[in-house]
Amino acid sequence: MRLMWARKLGLMMAVAGFCAAAVSSAQNATSAYDAAKHVFRLDGGDVTYAFGVNREGQLQTVYWGARLRADDPLNQPAPMGRPFELTDTPQEFAGWGGGLTTEPSLKITFPDGNRDLVLHYLSHQVRGNEIEVTLKDIEREIYVTLHYKMDGQTGILKRSAEVTNKTHSPLVVEEMQAGSWNLPRSSKYSLHYLSGRWGGEDQLQTRSVSAAETVLESRRGFTGHEFAPWFAISENGAVTETAGKIWFGALAWSGSWRITVQQDELQQVRVTGGFNPFDFAYPLEPGQSLRSPEFYGGFAAHGYEEMSHLESEFQRAQVLPQAPHPRLRPVLYNSWEATEFRVSEEGQEQLAEKAASIGVERFVMDDGWFSTRKDDHAGLGDWYPDPDKFPHGLKPLIARVHALGMDFGLWVEPEMVNENSDLYRKHPDWIIHFDGRPRTQARSQFVLNLAIPEVRAYVFGVLDKLLSENQIAFLKWDANRNWSEPGWPQMAADRQKMIYVRYIENYYSILRELRAKHPHIEIESCSGGGGRVDLGVMRYTDEVWTSDNTDPFDRLSIQNGFSYAYTPQVMMAWVTDSPNWYNHRMTSLTYRFLSAMQGSLGIGADLNKWTPQDFATAKQMIAEYKAMRDVVQHGTLHRLASPQDGSNFAATESVSPDERKAVVFAFLHSEQMQYPAPVVHPRGMREDAVYTVRALGGNLEAGTPPKASGAYWMNHGFSFRLEGDYAAAAAIFEAQP
Ligand code: DGJ
Repeated sequence: MRLMWARKLGLMMAVAGFCAAAVSSAQNATSAYDAAKHVFRLDGGDVTYAFGVNREGQLQTVYWGARLRADDPLNQPAPMGRPFELTDTPQEFAGWGGGLTTEPSLKITFPDGNRDLVLHYLSHQVRGNEIEVTLKDIEREIYVTLHYKMDGQTGILKRSAEVTNKTHSPLVVEEMQAGSWNLPRSSKYSLHYLSGRWGGEDQLQTRSVSAAETVLESRRGFTGHEFAPWFAISENGAVTETAGKIWFGALAWSGSWRITVQQDELQQVRVTGGFNPFDFAYPLEPGQSLRSPEFYGGFAAHGYEEMSHLESEFQRAQVLPQAPHPRLRPVLYNSWEATEFRVSEEGQEQLAEKAASIGVERFVMDDGWFSTRKDDHAGLGDWYPDPDKFPHGLKPLIARVHALGMDFGLWVEPEMVNENSDLYRKHPDWIIHFDGRPRTQARSQFVLNLAIPEVRAYVFGVLDKLLSENQIAFLKWDANRNWSEPGWPQMAADRQKMIYVRYIENYYSILRELRAKHPHIEIESCSGGGGRVDLGVMRYTDEVWTSDNTDPFDRLSIQNGFSYAYTPQVMMAWVTDSPNWYNHRMTSLTYRFLSAMQGSLGIGADLNKWTPQDFATAKQMIAEYKAMRDVVQHGTLHRLASPQDGSNFAATESVSPDERKAVVFAFLHSEQMQYPAPVVHPRGMREDAVYTVRALGGNLEAGTPPKASGAYWMNHGFSFRLEGDYAAAAAIFEAQP
């Protein structure tokens, strides 16, 4: 369908009434402005987004949904309010003022006590796939520039806003959002979001959108485990994996954030997102600006699966640091669950030898390698190898890892410091704190205040030195606690709350500079499991740690939730020991592999405990994964049977971009009364191609043909023979030449 629109680009240039139409042919996206109606329009993928200026000068959403014909009429923006209401207008970006009672995008306090801000259209620029609109307060020299950029492949629109103080006095920004997404008016929507906690991330939640506001947020300084900065809104009852309309979006911010979903009294639904306004205050001197986080929004006309596919495609092509063609993730080994803090040169080399023997491509030494780190009470902040554990530094271990044919990765937690560390003894004021108040510890550590220039320089310097002196290919960047007492005593009292923005900007700038100076480096974003997963950090990190919960059964629902918002390419999943450390569940090595192979595969088991049979199984599964990882990481995901809500059977399918390869993973929780496993109907194959099938890690039901057409597999389906508890198998389909 996307190609169909590409062919119509010519027509777009001749849109009746639309002047200043601009086509970004490379991107297959267009932007246009209809001066007669005062309406702007962006088209990309299968999506049209339109907004315009009403007669009061407010910027109002006009349309967001499936792509319209170029000559389809768009409504004239409606006048504001009804007789007794001032605030009904579905504004793109509303200042708090003029009687606004719905969520504002910007709230300012001026030094004279005025807090009224009414933003009206001033000017615009339309170019390529981008539109910029400038709004201005009706009286004061406050300017807001709204940025819109449409992605030609997916129709995902990137929005952000920048406020500039052109008055002669300082002011305080108390709320700064990227803007609002206004949906077509309806009282029949459902909101989907991801909630969780440490060890239980990304649980998919659904609730109806009613006359109330739902707040998804983090007040933790970081992205947090509690909610993902992502939403999807579907038409009630009409939406399945493969059918129905969905509007979705994600915020690119790794600090305290907020997304509100509000149905107002006219049953208009608006989603507003940006910096969390809780405890927020950002002073702007004359001439200064503040830019909101970027907020991405998309539309899918054909169900959740299409939504996930668009997000995945967009993240790989537009967001990740190696975009538009991020390389396939290597199979890694991580030492954490095997050794915890008890690392040593000899012990790591032993693990490395075993990891290499099964086909691992990257060996990662986790926590415990530095300073006096024997447990989590000491050492954070002092980033030199522990001389007892590594008497000759890291080089001998790295050399051994290289000799074994793997590259080397290292765990770091650069934003943190233990009370028991040289760094804290020297610089107790470098942490986030309020003078004279208790300093709350979590996991025996404090958070360094990256907003302080010296702290930023120290953290960058430590990492730069490690990367300059050692051949390190990969950093696992961890952050194992949230903020508390968010003070910045080195700053004037009225400027301390800038920490919420400055910290994260400096965090991003360290990642950016490290990558620029060490272009070969790859980075994983980790925060006590999946506490820092968002589109902001994904611009600088190649993968994310999904959860510390590595139980392969629990992971099915965590990974399922994750897949609604993020690409499987970045979803790290390890094969660890059984019983699992988190919940003591016993599962077979095959089950563990098949669960982890749905994302980016890692091994986190204690290889010293493995039997020869375990090594043989692992070697085979890793070889199979390498042969299918392009399909899993870059293909299209189909959720065939959900693991949620106590489901006894779960299945996913990944199909290669050319539709010639597919792999189906299936998991039975427990066999009951000898019921056979359900029939699985794969999707996304070519109907007329002939595919062979073979089972991996288990068996197909007796009588399954060795080959048949795509139409056969999709319509007739097939089933696995799954017996006992925690049984799993995969089916690999390949089209005949
Ligand atoms: C939390 C991470 O999520 C784990 O994988 C591990 O790296 C530990 N931190 C190390 O302290």
